[in-house]
Amino acid sequence: MKVAGTVRVPGDKSISHRALILAALAAGESRIRGILESEDVRSSAGVLRSLGAKIPELSSEFAVTGSGLRGLTQPRGALDCGNSGTTTRLMAGVVAAHPLSARFVGDESLSRRPMKRVAEPLTHMGAKFDFERGDGLPMTIHGMDLRSVDWDTKASSAQVKSAILLAGLVAGVEVRVTEKSRSRDHTERMLRSAGADVEADGNQVCLRPARALHPLDISVPGDPSSAAFFVALATLAGKGELLLTDVCLNPTRNGFIDVMTRMGASIEVLNQSESGGEVVGSLRIKPSILEDAVVSGNDIGSIIDELPLLACVAAGAGIELEITGAEELRVKESDRIAVVVQNLRAVGVDAEELPDGLRVHGARRRLSGTIDPRADHRIAMAFGILSPISGGDITVLHPECVAVSYPTFWKDLGAAIV
Ligand code: S3P
Repeated sequence: MKVAGTVRVPGDKSISHRALILAALAAGESRIRGILESEDVRSSAGVLRSLGAKIPELSSEFAVTGSGLRGLTQPRGALDCGNSGTTTRLMAGVVAAHPLSARFVGDESLSRRPMKRVAEPLTHMGAKFDFERGDGLPMTIHGMDLRSVDWDTKASSAQVKSAILLAGLVAGVEVRVTEKSRSRDHTERMLRSAGADVEADGNQVCLRPARALHPLDISVPGDPSSAAFFVALATLAGKGELLLTDVCLNPTRNGFIDVMTRMGASIEVLNQSESGGEVVGSLRIKPSILEDAVVSGNDIGSIIDELPLLACVAAGAGIELEITGAEELRVKESDRIAVVVQNLRAVGVDAEELPDGLRVHGARRRLSGTIDPRADHRIAMAFGILSPISGGDITVLHPECVAVSYPTFWKDLGAAIV
């Protein structure tokens, strides 16, 4: 298989959610270019609209007139978060600090995901949460005047950290969050570029009380989690090279590039610059022979969303891979440990589940079979890459589920292979 050409993957999903939320909370008109036009981001747009924010139809460039901090209003119906954990958890923080009550609902996968991790700190700040069953959606938040908090998440989650920061921002109180290891920091960067006083020190971040947010002027860079699929494809191709342009190279997101480089991949970073508080640049990837790898501990946070892909890379490269310390994978859009291992086996790969990770014993041979991604976009795309790199015949059921984060994935994949 040969690859060629240039790919500009769609806008970063994490930054796109945050751009909409902060624009809705800013005082005045924000401009947003290159937002990710996907189902997850549409969920954030829809929830904000239900709360009275003036968010237009998503397009390549648009303006949002913010209603200011605490300007959102009582919704008439439930807030439908679709498949999006980021929408739910970040908006939980925003809603908790408004004087309104809102019921959050989502699809079957989202309804199974744990929400007490945001309910706990926000309850500590003074909000009230009602759960209808267990730890998941539907949940109703009764917003209040919130107090300041100094919270140790004892984990590493950008969604939990962002929920607390956004609650503190809207409430106008100081908040401090300590994590086990530093999670992705897009919220902090964007808040700073909108004039908020945010200080980060190692695994700790502190937001000082804010009166208002300046409007944003933001160009959303390409999503490194989407670029990762093409890094994998080009590394395991027989010939050619791929150039990926305008990729977000935020260090809290670079785990896949770092691990692949450690395994022997040829990934050259070009034209690095800064835009809107984020590092962006291009990546040139050439085919390489990979070595066995062990991924654990501090590696996990910055590669968490790319671990299903890394498992497929190991299978396609015929190497040994062990991932541990990644129990969070069990509560993503699917149980990504179980679903990856089941699907690897379904195409003939020797793989085993661990409580907090997995092992892949790759063998260089043709793989074939049918993949059921259980409606999980990243699993569908990871196996979508494994098919051409293993020279096999892999059918991915429900390929349309990629619309959650990368609606044009199959088209872009087809164009990169010559
Ligand atoms: C995200 C944070 C991560 C990540 C998710 C997006 C975000 O989740 O897996 O895809 O945009 O804040 P956690 O906060 O649960 O680690």
